[in-house]
Amino acid sequence: MYKIIKKEMLTPTICRMEVEAPRLAAAAKPGQFLIVRADEKGERIPLTISDFDTTKGTVTIVTQPIGASTTDIVAFEEGEAFADVVGPLGNPSDFIEKSPEELAASHFIFIAGGVGTAPVYPQAKWLHEHGAKVDVIIGAKTAGLLIYKEEMAAVCDNLHICTDDGSEGFHGMVTALLEKLVNDGNKYTQAVAIGPMIMMKFTTLTAKKLGLPIVVSLNTLMVDGTGMCGACRVTVAGKTRFACVEGPEFDGYEVDFDEAMRRQGQYRTEEAEARENHVCRIGRGK
Ligand code: NAD
Ligand code: FES
Repeated sequence: MYKIIKKEMLTPTICRMEVEAPRLAAAAKPGQFLIVRADEKGERIPLTISDFDTTKGTVTIVTQPIGASTTDIVAFEEGEAFADVVGPLGNPSDFIEKSPEELAASHFIFIAGGVGTAPVYPQAKWLHEHGAKVDVIIGAKTAGLLIYKEEMAAVCDNLHICTDDGSEGFHGMVTALLEKLVNDGNKYTQAVAIGPMIMMKFTTLTAKKLGLPIVVSLNTLMVDGTGMCGACRVTVAGKTRFACVEGPEFDGYEVDFDEAMRRQGQYRTEEAEARENHVCRIGRGK
């Protein structure tokens, strides 16, 4: 069992949990994910690792209740325990293989969209601790949905905020702010985008226009997370790849985002029905 040490709501709908999982915390690297099964009958839900603490033996996950199973996860309280937390899964970010000299010469720009801001944190933190220059853009629909502002400010050189409605920071989407920063003379060596698939698609198009290499972290549908079922398949550079074992990070220029979005929406009707008829497994939901 995997005990929830701490639970807090970052916004009315976004929940952060610190979960006891010492072996996972000891092995986790930036860019990897884990799979949570709330109880023994629960669906396997992939979540990006938002932080890990080897001393405390904990991993942090950030969840937004979108479907029936994420609603179950968020209904757990401090002191309760999940049946399974499996990981770390997937490959760590490529940059952890870079030499100290390469890192010192790097200037990363992270583009974080909405809930996708949480998984940017361990990557920015690792790079900052290893001597790279790191800028971060956090974008959200409105000021009240911005997360990880203080945490991110502590691990980056420049934090840029934008909101779709202009209620905080730059008025506009992450793509417009990225373009402005580059046009203002900022020279980045690598972009990394994490957020909704549509945002990663358009951020990649913007990066391409600006001549900036970009890595994206794909949150495809997943079942086993170990390369067995094929649920997570995506087309990258014309070839079928499994996001769970060959990703989750890929070169944005090479990803077929339109196909990935079609596949992601494949079970929308079933998901809506499950949400509508949902009876929370631990008796707190509808
Ligand atoms: P959102 O829809 O509020 O978007 C966040 C920001 O992304 C916006 O403020 C905007 O700046 C930018 N954006 C959105 N659409 C855009 C477009 N068409 N062009 C340019 N920029 C655009 O985000 P949300 O509701 O918090 O997102 C939740 C989604 O994020 C879920 O689908 C979830 O699966 C996904 N997610 C992805 C990852 C990952 O690893 N890739 C991790 C966590 C969550
Ligand atoms: Fe099953 Fe990737 S989730 S192969």
